[in-house]
Amino acid sequence: MRTDYLVASDEKELWSRVGPLENEEICIYYQDHDKKYEFGTNSAGRDLLLKLIPTILNLLKINAKVLQDSFEDLEQAIREGESLYTEKPHLRSVGQTWSNDEYAHPGLQRVYLKLKSFQRFVEAWCVLERAEHMGIFSGLSAVKELVVCSLGGGPGIELYSFSKFVEQRFPHVSLRLVSLDRCWEWHHYSEALGVEFSQWDVNAPGSFETIEKLGSPIDYVLIFNVLMYFNNDTIQEYLERLFERFACRAVLINERGKFCEVSSRLQRKGYGSVRLIHQGKSRDERQLALIPKPSSGSSSRSELRMTFPNVPPVDWADKVDRSKFGRPEHILRADSYKQSDPPHWKRKRASSGSRDHQHSSRRYH
Ligand SMILES: C[S@@+](CC[C@H](N)C(=O)[O-])C[C@H]1O[C@@H](n2cnc3c(N)ncnc32)[C@H](O)[C@@H]1O
Repeated sequence: MRTDYLVASDEKELWSRVGPLENEEICIYYQDHDKKYEFGTNSAGRDLLLKLIPTILNLLKINAKVLQDSFEDLEQAIREGESLYTEKPHLRSVGQTWSNDEYAHPGLQRVYLKLKSFQRFVEAWCVLERAEHMGIFSGLSAVKELVVCSLGGGPGIELYSFSKFVEQRFPHVSLRLVSLDRCWEWHHYSEALGVEFSQWDVNAPGSFETIEKLGSPIDYVLIFNVLMYFNNDTIQEYLERLFERFACRAVLINERGKFCEVSSRLQRKGYGSVRLIHQGKSRDERQLALIPKPSSGSSSRSELRMTFPNVPPVDWADKVDRSKFGRPEHILRADSYKQSDPPHWKRKRASSGSRDHQHSSRRYH
């Protein structure tokens, strides 16, 4: 199989995920390969996605070369990667999505880059837009450079999204971006994105030294889709050190789970946690900003027009409701729960008659 053919088929598929601008206001795009779920964006979001595609294609070209250098039989390697991606044997045996060897497989990396780059770029943009709205980046007008690192950053897409965001909102700021990750084989891609790569295993003895070597300050830390691999005690200790000794301004988190243990732990130690997604009847900590001091914000409601609404999805629907598109998102300052409240599914049975609880139970069971 020729690698130019491989990339040409990716190219067609990726461009087909971003639709035209309908009535000059809405563009339908898909984060998934099967184009099952429609998402909507505006013209600015569409421009971002159209610029992202050549970047992903470049990563896939690099990957095609790695595949070619590593395997005699390319088709077989691609099939292996696809099967690892869908079957997730490590998840079944160990409870973590993929093992280090699996992440290092160029066939799996190919699928990951193709499917996850889009999603991660958009999710990161949403974290950043919401964080900006919550004042997390206030004070950057006087700053010339920032150091941003992603723990378990893999290929570094969230850092790439960060760089595009800063380019747009704070063009006077220069960035040093670092992906710290156990899987060395990601370095090909992060470097192509302008992101330094440093091999780092959170569980290895002395692993904090790798972070220390970056120097101080470390302004922002990203934790994206990786907490399942980290032990809570270790990550809590690392984040405390980052706040205390590295002048970290915020730790931005994007995860699938709606309850974040490390956030509760840090709040109990006097740090702040801002829930970035609108809080409905039940706690939703999929996107968070952890900050050195508790936020003084009151329960004020404010509105934010998102570039990429409904990411991560709050309303699951196959189709975008065009009649509602463009409405601002209501951000309810997330102090409607006490800091140390356990997640709703752990609350005592005594509260099971309350409307909130019934509502949460319906949604999650
Ligand atoms: C789901 S990927 C997330 C990658 C990236 N943050 C993203 O959102 O696309 C999980 C990452 O965690 C890394 N990882 C797993 N165990 C790790 C460990 N013990 N130390 C450091 N990184 C680890 C993997 O290599 C992988 O890149």
